[in-house]
Amino acid sequence: MVIIDGKELASKIKVEIAKEVDLLKAEGHKVPHLAAILVGDNAASQSYVKSKVKFCDDVGFESTLIKKDESITEEELLDLVKDLNEDDTVDGYIVQLPLPRHIDPEKINLAIDPQKDVDGFHPTNFGRMALGLPSYLPATPQGILVMLERYNISTSGKKCVVVGRSNIVGMPMSILLSQKREIGNCTVTIVHSRTKDVEQEIKNADIVIAAIGRANYITADMVKPGAVVIDVGINRIEDPTKKRGYRLVGDVDYANVSKVASFITPVPGGVGPMTVTSLIMNTLKAAKKEIYK
Ligand code: GUN
Repeated sequence: MVIIDGKELASKIKVEIAKEVDLLKAEGHKVPHLAAILVGDNAASQSYVKSKVKFCDDVGFESTLIKKDESITEEELLDLVKDLNEDDTVDGYIVQLPLPRHIDPEKINLAIDPQKDVDGFHPTNFGRMALGLPSYLPATPQGILVMLERYNISTSGKKCVVVGRSNIVGMPMSILLSQKREIGNCTVTIVHSRTKDVEQEIKNADIVIAAIGRANYITADMVKPGAVVIDVGINRIEDPTKKRGYRLVGDVDYANVSKVASFITPVPGGVGPMTVTSLIMNTLKAAKKEIYK
C-alpha cells in the first residue's frame, strides 16, 4: 500500500511554482496576485484562508485578504466583488464559503468575473469544464487529478465511484474523470443518498473518491482489495486526549481501509494541501492568461 502524501506533493509543487514566479519577475512581469474575501468568523474558513495566504507568501505571490464582519449586506458584498472585478492589479480572487444566511451565495458567484474566478465555481467555468474547454478547474477535483497524475495511477478504463454529488467536489470530479483526458477515461458512478445499494457500488470500484462529509463512513469491508482510495472528508470528532478537544478524520476509516487499498490519502495531509495548491495553480494561470487569452 502506498500513502499518497498530499503534504509532500504540495511542497514539491510549491517549489515549482516559486520558480515560475522568479521567471515571471525576471521577464519583467508583475507577480501573480490572489485576493480572498472572508466574511464572519467561521473557524474552519479562517483556517483555510490562512493557509491560502501562507501559500501565496511561500511562492512569492502577492495576496490581499479582505475580512468583513458577518453583518455585511448582500449589496455591500456585491460592491466588493465588483471592485475586485475591476481591479487590474488582482489576477484572481475567491469568496470563501459558507456565507452568512442572509447572503445568497449563488448571487455572489454569478457576480464574479469568470476570468478571475480561480475557484472555478462560476457557471461559465463549470460549463467550460463540462464541455472540455479551457477553464479554471475547481480546486479539490483538480488537486485529486494532480495526485493521480503524479503518483502514476492509471485511470483509463477503470471503474470509479464518487461518493457525494456536491457542486464543488463530487459533481465536477465525476465529470472530469469520465472525460477523454490524460487522467480520465473512467467509467464513473456517482453514489448519493438515494442510491439503492451504496456498499455494493463502492465494492465494485477500482477508484473510490469519498466526499460526503461523514466521519469514517467508508469501512474496509466496502472496499475492493487493491482499490485506490481518495478521501476528501475533513470531519471533526471529539477527542478528549487532544488539547483542542477534537481531531480531524476523513470519510474513510483509514486505519482499516489502508490494509486493503493499493493507494490511499491520509487525513490530514492528503487532499487538503492539494486543494490549496490547486487554487494557487489557477492563480498562476490567471496571471499568465492561460485560460482566457
Ligand atoms: N469553502 C470550502 N471549500 C471552499 C473552496 O474551495 N472555495 C471557497 N471559496 N470556499 C470554500
